[in-house]
Amino acid sequence: MFENRFDGQVAIITGGASGIGLAIGTRIAQEGGTVVLVDVNAESLDNAKTSIGEVAGAIETQIVDVTSQSSVKQLMQSVAEQHGKVDIVVNSAGIAGPTATNITDYSLEDFRKVVDINMTGSFIVTKYAVETMQPKGYGRILLIASMAGKEGNPGMAGYTTSKAGVFGLVKGIGKEVADTEITVNGIAPAVIATPMNLATAQAQLDYMTAKIPMGRLGTVDEVSSLACWIVSKEASFNTGVVFDLSGGRATY
Ligand SMILES: NC(=O)c1ccc[n+]([C@@H]2O[C@H](COP(=O)([O-])OP(=O)(O)OC[C@H]3O[C@@H](n4cnc5c(N)ncnc54)[C@H](O)[C@@H]3O)[C@@H](O)[C@H]2O)c1
Repeated sequence: MFENRFDGQVAIITGGASGIGLAIGTRIAQEGGTVVLVDVNAESLDNAKTSIGEVAGAIETQIVDVTSQSSVKQLMQSVAEQHGKVDIVVNSAGIAGPTATNITDYSLEDFRKVVDINMTGSFIVTKYAVETMQPKGYGRILLIASMAGKEGNPGMAGYTTSKAGVFGLVKGIGKEVADTEITVNGIAPAVIATPMNLATAQAQLDYMTAKIPMGRLGTVDEVSSLACWIVSKEASFNTGVVFDLSGGRATY
C-alpha cells in the first residue's frame, strides 16, 4: 500500500461491485482517490459499499450497463462534470458464460451475450474514457483481459474470443493515443479467486489451476497491486500492452 498515491485523482471502475473491480476500487480509495464503482447489479453495489469500511466516504456508486453506449457516455460526462475530470478508468465488468461447452453445443445467443459484455463493453468504455480524458490530455485506462484470450481455454468459446478481442483493443488504442499522456493497458490474469468462479465448472477450474506452475489461484489483492501501479502516474512509459498475471502460466 502506498500512502496518498491517488490523492486528488478520480477513478471509475466498471464491474466494481465484486471481485477484481471491487478490490481495485477499494485500494485506489485507500490510497487517496475518489472512486465511482459502476455495476449492473444494484444489490451487489449496495453490499460492496457497506463492506468497504472506512474508505466508503471516498466511494460513490452508479448502476450502469457497459453494453449501453448512452449510459456509459452519460456516466463519463456526469463524473467529469461533478469532479472536474476523470483520471482513471478500469473496465472490470465481465461474465464467463458457459464454461464447459464445446463449440458444437455453444449457442449463438450465449456467444453474442459474452462478446457483447466483455468485448463490445470494453470498446464502449474505452471510447468514452478516451473522449473524457482528451481535454485534459492525461489518463490511465486499464482493461481486464484474461489468460483465456492469450492461450485459449477449451469449452469457453465466447469468453476466450471476447478476451482475445480485448487484447486487440488494448494494443490498437494504446498506439492510437500514444502521443498523449493517456495510456491504455490490460492485465491478463490466470484464474483468480472471485465470485465469478463460483459458477465455473469444476473440471474447467481444475484444468485452469493445473496450468499454473505456482499451483494455486491468484488473489484479488495480487491483481489490484499490479493494477494500481498501471493506473498510477508512475507508469508513464507503458501503453498498448497486456501484462501477464498468471503464477507462471504465461511464458511469452
Ligand atoms: N476471476 C478470474 O479468474 C478472472 C480471470 C481472468 C480475467 N477475469 C476478468 O476479470 C474481470 C472481473 O472478474 P471477477 O472475477 O472480478 O468477476 P465478478 O463476477 O466477481 O465481477 C464482475 C462484475 O461485473 C459485473 N457486470 C457483469 N456484466 C456487466 C455489465 N454489462 N455492465 C456492468 N457490470 C457488469 C457483475 O455484476 C460483477 O459485479 C472480468 O472481466 C473477468 O473476465 C477474471
